[in-house]
Amino acid sequence: MRTELVVLDDNVPSRGLLNEWGWSVLVEGRHRFIFDADTNPLVLAHNSKILGVSLRNLDFGFLSHWHHDHYGGFQYIAELNPGLKLYVPPGNLAMVMRWGFEPAVAGKGALREGDGLWVSGPVDDFEQALGIETSSGLVVIVGCSHPGVDRLTEAVLEASGYGKAHAVVGGFHYPKLRALDRLAEMSELIAPAHCSGDDAKRYVMRRYPEKFVEVRTGSVLEF
Ligand SMILES: [Fe+2]
Repeated sequence: MRTELVVLDDNVPSRGLLNEWGWSVLVEGRHRFIFDADTNPLVLAHNSKILGVSLRNLDFGFLSHWHHDHYGGFQYIAELNPGLKLYVPPGNLAMVMRWGFEPAVAGKGALREGDGLWVSGPVDDFEQALGIETSSGLVVIVGCSHPGVDRLTEAVLEASGYGKAHAVVGGFHYPKLRALDRLAEMSELIAPAHCSGDDAKRYVMRRYPEKFVEVRTGSVLEF
């Protein structure tokens, strides 16, 4: 299924769009959902309007980990989608309900049977990543990769049964170069964003130029 990732906010700005330190991606394909919800609802509201995408009528939401630069806009998303299911790592489910969501904790494996979505499970009991079946192959979205982007990607590959990812997109959290080398063995494309850091971006760009994908606020990645 042809799938678009619309980057609602990344740490790198774009003219005409608001931005803050944060991360949020709207996924439009077989399902419409939001992966993380940035720091600031005003950024989500402004950028979705300028980018011409609706944040209403989502199928579900997904939170990678309990840091504010990933969940700051979720209360706003719940206002637009009352009662929506939000997949979260183990943690503050009462807060998720107060926002107006139905919380759900997914284990490692298929998000729901037969829907082409796979969850890493909470790696180190902290952070989860999501794999999406697309026309190009498996696309993995990560939040901040605190446990390591290579370990999260590995867990999604195990959960999905895919031997290799087509792309890994998201925050890599100032990775060791060894983690990026391992990632390069696991994925055809590498899209460092959010908290990856300039060193990681430069390393991928120079060492694996054929794999590097640039991401910034407002990027639309098609798979
Ligand atoms: Fe982050």
